Parts: sequence; structure tokens; C-alpha cells
Amino acid sequence: IRSQSVLQLRATLWIIIDNLNEVQHFEIGGNLELNPGFFSEITSITWKHKGNFVAEWIKDDAVPLEYLGDLKGRANVNLTTGVLTVSNMRKSDDGLFTVEINNKVLPVSFSAVGIANLENHRVEVIVRPLTCDSSADKCSLDCGDAFTDAEPVQYFWKKGGTGQWEKGEKRINISKATETFDTFTCRAQNRFSQKMSAPHDNPYKKRSFSTCSFLNKLCKIA
Ligand SMILES: *[C@@H]1O[C@H](CO)[C@@H](O)[C@H](O)[C@H]1NC(C)=O
Ligand SMILES: *[C@@H]1O[C@H](CO)[C@@H](O)[C@H](O)[C@H]1NC(C)=O
Repeated sequence: IRSQSVLQLRATLWIIIDNLNEVQHFEIGGNLELNPGFFSEITSITWKHKGNFVAEWIKDDAVPLEYLGDLKGRANVNLTTGVLTVSNMRKSDDGLFTVEINNKVLPVSFSAVGIANLENHRVEVIVRPLTCDSSADKCSLDCGDAFTDAEPVQYFWKKGGTGQWEKGEKRINISKATETFDTFTCRAQNRFSQKMSAPHDNPYKKRSFSTCSFLNKLCKIA
């Protein structure tokens, strides 16, 4: 009975881990490293990408290590650990990687998803509406345009030149309540990179006292 329940438990565990699929993010232009987490001796290994052979090897030169397909020239398999490394990854390399070791398809597979480095994006504070000024009820600020190929992106905002960075949304609301700050600055960040905008003048900022006293008449006219 005991060995039967152990068998049952094994069967259950197998089902649980059967669909273990890890999303693996890579930096476009960078390396992808996939670790099958196999800790016994490897006597044969096959890596596939979207169902096509990437690498194949059988011990004792039955089949020498061979690389095939799109990733040939960029792929490398460590025959001790089974780790697959692919260099110079492109967005078109997105997709499912599977691995077979010692003639068994491992329960783990990897969904590779490429993310762009924000270095090549323009990060700036954009005022909405563009006509926003201190007479407006409220306005909002966007941190940049779309960073679609760099998602997921997190956003941070800084009020004034010396304020603390605060985590926020891509769009924040501003109003008269924020008129004390000279500038707003935003920072976009993803898992591979971050980039900061230039400080943007606060549309609600009142003329400073010294400017007013210097240009006293202009202030009164305004
Ligand atoms: C394979 O990986 C192991 C462990 O990281 C490392 O010690 C070894 O040098 C690697 N082998 C090759 C050929 O790179
Ligand atoms: C900004 O204002 C809009 C419209 O009034 C509102 O839907 C949104 O939740 C506000 N955003 C924040 C971060 O408060």
C-alpha cells in the first residue's frame, strides 16, 4: 500500500510540474541563458526553439554537438549543465524553448520574451493638454510616448529639483496644489535599463517674488 501511494504521489507531482513554463525575459541585442536545472550526468541533449532543432548531442560522439537553424552561430550548450546560451538576441527570437535530456522531455520549458533597452527611447515629460497653464483647472503629465517594445516599464516622478523619486503611473495629474514646485522630472525603468527625462517647467508655477519685483509692472499687467 505504501509503495502504491508513493507511486501515486509521484504521478501527482509529475502532473503538477508537467506544465512548468517559465517566462524568460531577455534584452534585445543581449544574451539569453536557459538553465534546465538538471543535476545528473547528461548523456544526450536536444534543445528546440518553436519546435525546431537548436542543438543536438549524444555522448561518446554517437552524435557530435551540432547547432542548427536560426540560432546557429549564436547558440552554445554547456554539456555539463545543459545550459543553453544564445547571444545577440532579436525580438524575432521570442517563443518557446524546450529541452530533452537523456531521452526525456523535461517538464520545464521557457517562453522567451525580448525587451528593448530604454537607452534608444526618448524619455521626456509631456504636458497634456499642450495648452495647460496656471489658469487651467487641472492638467496631466505623461512620461514619454509609448514604450511598447520595452514593457513592462515602471515610472518614477520627482517634484522640484531636490525632491524624492516617487513611484507613480505613466500619467500623473497636476493642479494648483502642486504650484510650489519649479519642475517635474520623470524616469522610466525596466528590468534592463532606466532613463531620466530632462526637468520640465511646472505649468502652474507662479512667478517668483524676485522676478515679480524686478518686473513689477509686467506682473501687475499679467
Ligand atoms: C559548464 O558549466 C560549468 C558550471 O557553470 C562550468 O564550470 C564549465 O566551465 C562550463 N563548461 C564549458 C565548456 O563552458
Ligand atoms: C487623474 O485624473 C483622471 C481624470 O480626472 C483620473 O481618472 C485619474 O485616476 C487621475 N490619476 C491619478 C493618478 O490620480
